Amino acid sequence: MNKIKIAIASDHGGYTLKNFLYKYLLTKGYSVEDFGTNSTDSCDYPIFAKKVCTSILSNEFQYGILICGTGLGMQICANRYKGIRAACVSDTYSAKMSRLHNNSNVLTMGARVIGEGLAVDIIDIWLNTSYEGGRHEKRIKMLDE
Ligand code: RB5
Repeated sequence: MNKIKIAIASDHGGYTLKNFLYKYLLTKGYSVEDFGTNSTDSCDYPIFAKKVCTSILSNEFQYGILICGTGLGMQICANRYKGIRAACVSDTYSAKMSRLHNNSNVLTMGARVIGEGLAVDIIDIWLNTSYEGGRHEKRIKMLDE
């Protein structure tokens, strides 16, 4: 049983992909909580980014996944929370590097940019790549100074 706790959320633009990924993560044995949104009705992505970011900063969850139309609004919003390192990713190489070098703790993706198959590959790589530390640690600390 995988003990990693993941908080996931979306706006209306990411609703369908978020639901798909929520179910996928459960099948992989992760502990996942869905912070909404709960329909395709238009809503504001900062509300959902905040729920996920605060749940990580309080150490309730280890990782966050945020989906909107492009992934960009969610990334911009999440990176306003000190201690959050959000990476908007649409390729597997960036998914890997965002963990190895940037120790990203939030992954954002655009449901209007990538499909379910690529989103799953990105998540698999992101969750299974460890932060390298070392020379990157000084740089990570500088982000919060
Ligand atoms: C909603 O139309 C869209 O703007 C939103 O999902 C996201 O892409 C914003 O960055």
